[in-house]
Amino acid sequence: MKALKIGVCGVGNVGGAVIENLTSSPQIVESNGGVKIEITQVGARKGKSAVPFDLDVTTNLLEVAQNPNIDVLVELIGGCDLAKDLIEESIKNGKNIVTANKALISTHGDELFDLAKKNGVQIGFEASVAGGTPVIKALREGLVANKVKWFAGILNGTTNYILSKMTDENSSFEDALKQAQELGLAEADPTMDVDGTDAAQKASILSALAFNTPFDFKSVAYGGIESVTPDDILYADQLGYSIKHIAYGSIEGEEVNVSAYPTFVSKDQLLSQVGQQMNALEIFCEDIGSTVYYGPGAGPKPTASAVIADLVDISNGGWPVLEDDIKKNTLCKEGKKTFSRYFKLDVKNEAGAIAKVSSLFAHENISIEALVQKESKQNSDIPSVPVVIISGPISDTNAFQMSGNLDSMEEITNSVKQFRIHNAL
Ligand code: HSE
Repeated sequence: MKALKIGVCGVGNVGGAVIENLTSSPQIVESNGGVKIEITQVGARKGKSAVPFDLDVTTNLLEVAQNPNIDVLVELIGGCDLAKDLIEESIKNGKNIVTANKALISTHGDELFDLAKKNGVQIGFEASVAGGTPVIKALREGLVANKVKWFAGILNGTTNYILSKMTDENSSFEDALKQAQELGLAEADPTMDVDGTDAAQKASILSALAFNTPFDFKSVAYGGIESVTPDDILYADQLGYSIKHIAYGSIEGEEVNVSAYPTFVSKDQLLSQVGQQMNALEIFCEDIGSTVYYGPGAGPKPTASAVIADLVDISNGGWPVLEDDIKKNTLCKEGKKTFSRYFKLDVKNEAGAIAKVSSLFAHENISIEALVQKESKQNSDIPSVPVVIISGPISDTNAFQMSGNLDSMEEITNSVKQFRIHNAL
């Protein structure tokens, strides 16, 4: 049987799960993948006490990168500083790389792939997006014969868990986040989950594969779920939607737009049914239409599963390396793509206020598809009332502009909120 000698750097939740899997049940990978994976060395900054396995441990991670007996360095330390140095040093020493590091790939991917190509080695990054759900493999192998038109994905398990708990169990945001952290889903700093950074990094990686763009996280527009309130969830439900954090990418000509925002998804769409910490990705291709990938996207075991799948692929020769002269498409932050919108306003409870709001929509040439204002039976003297407007399709730029215009109206008493409505067309 083939043998692959690996060095594992980083023994947190994911590193621990990789080592546990490979040491406790090696026969699964041996019989399914036809390769014997041997952990030659472990790099752990905290030393041997952090590694509850009988393995060669060093606190000097660069020693792993330079170890001549290692074929593949598995980078699981995260971040962009030491991880980048470690990967570069490993590549220069002729080692293949497997990483779960979406921050690094989404920011420095092009540079690292160039270096890997020059040194004749491969980089596997299945674990960087959607954990145990093989979406990278789907894009670079299964769908290779297709032109992808758009993708829409729930790519962050923590926020999906929070939104699901808030929707299904009326949990508070804080309680749901705490539970997600206890399950090991969240990033070390959960701000990156909550504010949309994590999903946006993953979306930029998908864009590179789906649309042949550079790895260019800074050109992805995104926002987080902090602004979603129980009221929004209730309105969404009554109007026939779930609220999901959706990463959306599409191509028009050579221009690609990728973004990640809390989004209304109609309950008749598959993505609206994706609950708990699960991830899902719908990829729409020109000739075959939609394919959908669903599964666990966060947590130690799903991520370890993706890391090990990459190791098996590398033992089989890895992936095709593209020629340098293939022209890349451009990732643009300002999207022309239009979406219908949910606007939530607090409007002064006085005659003519709604008429002024609707005339602003008319003035901006934005159609109103639905307007919800509930009669207050208790107290007709309350100073303002919540009003929800579902608009026709408009671009992000127009939606932000419209929110700003509404905010500056005397009749609006609170900051206006707007969310996209996903339209799978
Ligand atoms: N914190 C991420 C999530 C998992 O919640 O999806 C790793 O990407």
